[in-house]
Amino acid sequence: MGRVFVAGSINMDVVATADRHPRVGETVAGRQVLYFPGGKGANQAVAASRLGAKTTLIGRLGKDAFGAELRTFLGDQGIDLGSVREADTHTGTAIITVAASDNTIVVVPGSNALVGADDVAGVRLTKGDVAVSQFEIPLPTIAAFFQRARSAGATTLLNPAPAQQMPGELLALVDILVLNETELGFLAGSEVSDSDEAAKIIAVARQLQAREDQTICITLGKRGVLALAGREEFAVPGRVVTAVDATGAGDCFVGALASQLADDVPLRAALAFANAAASISVQRMGAGPSMPTAAEVAAVLGAG
Ligand code: RIB
Ligand code: NA
Repeated sequence: MGRVFVAGSINMDVVATADRHPRVGETVAGRQVLYFPGGKGANQAVAASRLGAKTTLIGRLGKDAFGAELRTFLGDQGIDLGSVREADTHTGTAIITVAASDNTIVVVPGSNALVGADDVAGVRLTKGDVAVSQFEIPLPTIAAFFQRARSAGATTLLNPAPAQQMPGELLALVDILVLNETELGFLAGSEVSDSDEAAKIIAVARQLQAREDQTICITLGKRGVLALAGREEFAVPGRVVTAVDATGAGDCFVGALASQLADDVPLRAALAFANAAASISVQRMGAGPSMPTAAEVAAVLGAG
């Protein structure tokens, strides 16, 4: 079984819950303020580790109370934190409003902006490992990480969120791209909506495909996932559940997918597993703490 290596962001999520989101310039009364471990990289690592993968996180924390709290939480999840160093600035922080299960997020990178190529230089990957990243650390760091992973024979998995333009050289280093319809539309430069026909969405993914053997997975929430794997294309149906907080659901999907690929599970089954995992995470508050265990996912899959 391979290992999962995640190079990525670690944030403290400061969450206010309210009955509805304020409009610009408006103030609304909230219900609760909650502190949850978050950050896309950390969330993906928590998901992979809880689902049974041996997981290493590469990132940076500030020398502050949030940093100390996050290190304890992540260590308790069984994640190898040997490559999580300190930075001379504040820990990454996300200010989140959750209303009617939908969120708005302002993320301030802090220490995450200082994750550099030197942080990934010492990481030892081997064939069968899965290298995961997202767009909350500098893009040149991701490129250095993926170069290292590919030369070791590991699989690279990129979740280009939050969306930003990426150089073609980075996209070419990606074996598996996992993104939602908005990110796909942004990167491909065409309009895509989650109600578009599958054939149209796949056609846009095909425009973006940088290599013939590249896999692109488009997550469509309740509608499930569309996948373009080399020349093959298929759909994995979604799961309808009652969401309380969708924060980190995409990260859960990515971490769960990585855990299955590291365990040599074929893509289609790995995507169905990741879908089930994400459907559990949206039914719980918070990002990191909402990630399911393998037994919980097995129970959902067993129930059909
Ligand atoms: O994807 C969800 C995450 O995005 C949150 O945990 C928050 O930290 C932001 O980075
Ligand atoms: Na959640």
